[in-house]
Amino acid sequence: MSMLPQASSFAPDVDHLFDALLLLCGLVTIGVFAVMIVFCVRYRHGTAAERTPARQHLGVELTWTLIPFVLFMGIFGWSVHLWIRLRTPPKNAQPVYVVAKQWMWKVQHPGGQREIDTLHVPVGQPIRLVMTSQDVIHSFYVPAFRVKQDVLPDRYTELWFTATQAGTFHLFCAEFCGTDHARMGGSVIAMAPADYARWLHAHAGLGLAAQGEALFRQLGCSGCHDPQSGVHAPDLYDLYGHTVPLSDGSQVLADERYLQDSILLPKKQIAAGYAPIMPSFEGRIGAEDVLALVDYLKTRTRAAEDSHEHR
Ligand code: CUA
Repeated sequence: MSMLPQASSFAPDVDHLFDALLLLCGLVTIGVFAVMIVFCVRYRHGTAAERTPARQHLGVELTWTLIPFVLFMGIFGWSVHLWIRLRTPPKNAQPVYVVAKQWMWKVQHPGGQREIDTLHVPVGQPIRLVMTSQDVIHSFYVPAFRVKQDVLPDRYTELWFTATQAGTFHLFCAEFCGTDHARMGGSVIAMAPADYARWLHAHAGLGLAAQGEALFRQLGCSGCHDPQSGVHAPDLYDLYGHTVPLSDGSQVLADERYLQDSILLPKKQIAAGYAPIMPSFEGRIGAEDVLALVDYLKTRTRAAEDSHEHR
């Protein structure tokens, strides 16, 4: 029933749910108004209709309680099921980093390709956007994909989709974020995999992880975090995706959010066995530098280091 193209894998499912809600609400509205009109006519002033109070009727009570209950619990279950799918990116989803700022969308691909207000994606490949904001709250919204996610400062939010048809689709900011909010948009360009590979090749830059590694040295991170350093600091190898014991006895999963927090708010979660001596980099480096560092930390593994040395 939708006027919009259904350009992502869950667009038809979101539309089915919406259509079902519309149909159900439409039927309820028609039912309520039909009964209203019948009663207005039958019980209008001066008619000879029966007016003695009705006796209780258990069957009627149960019917009008149970039917809506079952219908609405069904809608609830259906939407929760869809919501969980929308919130759970598949393991093979390709990450793409998005930084929102007043008033533009900056996109960085893991291969180092950068773009502003456009996002190129291959058709048929799950894409996981890892998003953060440099200033206020924005919201990443692609109606043709039926996806929308707030983008917040000092935090990473995620959104995933699989484009199902090639084409150019509108990208909007869906959260009022200041003067030029209405102009903060662009397009998502879904391309056949071969065209996408060609695009990536034509726009290749220094890889994001390589930029991060350079920053890791420039900013002096390696001064403490390299194994040969005299400072007692975690060496950060094989960190991403593993659980980290904290000094307060709890544990945390080292995901993108944890890595960013550790750079910007190092006092928030102290790794067990280490002193809280790390300085905060908040306000000292931009959101894109943080993303590059995070991408580098994800690739900082012993295996990668060994192959480096033996080359
Ligand atoms: Cu960014 Cu509205």
